Order: sequence, then C-alpha cells, then structure tokens
Amino acid sequence: MAPIKPFSITTSLLMMIFIITTMTVISQTSSKQSNQSTLVFYLHDVANGPNATVAQIIGINGKVWSYHTWGTLFMVDDPITLTPDQYAVQVGRAQGTISVASLDGSNVIIVLSLVFNNVQYNGSTLEIQGASRQRENYRELTVVSGTGRFRFAKGYVVFETVSYEPTTTRAVIRLTVTLSQNNI
Ligand SMILES: *[C@@H]1O[C@H](CO)[C@@H](O)[C@H](O)[C@H]1NC(C)=O
Ligand SMILES: *[C@@H]1O[C@H](CO)[C@@H](O)[C@H](O)[C@H]1NC(C)=O
Ligand SMILES: *[C@@H]1O[C@H](CO)[C@@H](O)[C@H](O)[C@H]1NC(C)=O
Repeated sequence: MAPIKPFSITTSLLMMIFIITTMTVISQTSSKQSNQSTLVFYLHDVANGPNATVAQIIGINGKVWSYHTWGTLFMVDDPITLTPDQYAVQVGRAQGTISVASLDGSNVIIVLSLVFNNVQYNGSTLEIQGASRQRENYRELTVVSGTGRFRFAKGYVVFETVSYEPTTTRAVIRLTVTLSQNNI
C-alpha cells in the first residue's frame, strides 16, 4: 500500500494541473477577438562612416564584396524605433546577418533578432528569417519564433524601405510584423 498511495496522489495532482492548464488555454483562446496582431517598427540602417550599423564581414576572394555579389556576408546592428524619425526613442536593436544568396545578387538571406529594451518588451526578442528579394520594395519574410513576451511567436514580417539618403547612406526600413492569434 505504502508505495501506491504517493503514486496516486501524484497522479491526481497531475490530472488537476492538466485540467487547470487546459481550462486556462481554452479561456484565453475564446476571449480573443481577432486571430492576428500587428506591430510596426522602423530600422535605421547606415552603411558608411563612423556610425555605420551594417558592414561587410566576408566575401569571395578576388570579388568586390557588395549587396550584389553572391557570397558576401554582412553584419547588422540597427536601432529600432516606433516612428521613422531617426531621433525617436530606441525600443531595441535589430541584430544579425545578411548574406547574398543568389548567384545573380537578387536575393539575400536575412537572419535577424529584434532585441527589445523598452519597458513594454524588455528582454524579449522576435526572430526573423528568410529570403529577401532586395530589388523589390515589398519584402516578406517569416517570424520563426521569439522569447519572453513573444515565446512561440509565429507569423510574417514585411520589410519596406521608406527613405534612403545617398549622402549619409542612411536607410529607414519599416517592419510590419503580423503574428497569429496566440502569440502575445
Ligand atoms: C479565427 O480563426 C477561426 C478558425 O480558423 C475562424 O473560424 C474565425 O472566423 C477567425 N476569427 C476571426 C475574427 O478572424
Ligand atoms: C556619429 O555619432 C555621434 C554620436 O551620436 C555624433 O556626434 C556624430 O555626429 C555622428 N557622425 C556622423 C558622421 O553621423
Ligand atoms: C531592462 O532589463 C535590464 C536587465 O534586467 C535592466 O537593467 C534595464 O533597466 C531594463 N530596462 C528597462 C527600460 O526596463
């Protein structure tokens, strides 16, 4: 008897926890009004000068390393803001790599973490990955996951260049993130 009793207590406890967990999930799902949520961010990307936020780190020997040369790899650390204004308060950084993945230079593969440091999302990240057709203004990539507030995130993100200044090489890129229902 002695070994069976603790086992059955554990079993009932597990069952109760299972039932409570299931009820919580169901009430969360049914209380949601819409199946999607949208977040908009702006990245500030500077290619040249002392305050550059994107740089070539490696490429093919004997070739000019650029966004148009297959095999060139860039490292990025762009400030993230909630408006296109470059002086707007930063809510995080977009950190990762961009690699020129198509032989004709048309596609880059982006692997990017949005690392938030504002009060609302502090410590949380959104993970972006995918092919970017860099010669088009509308570029759709996937949101593969997230951490913290964005655990189990799933969705897609649209990149659109809203401005580019050739003299300063500053580009402002709008990210429209759409996440499926149970993510936030
Ligand atoms: C949410 O998704 C369910 C199942 O796919 C669908 O039946 C429902 O119409 C959707 N609700 C909204 C508000 O889009
Ligand atoms: C680089 O950043 C520093 C500090 O924010 C600023 O004072 C300087 O003007 C910037 N330089 C350029 C070329 O943008
Ligand atoms: C974000 O979290 C870090 C580490 O916990 C903390 O040092 C920082 O003050 C927090 N920032 C904000 C804006 O809450």
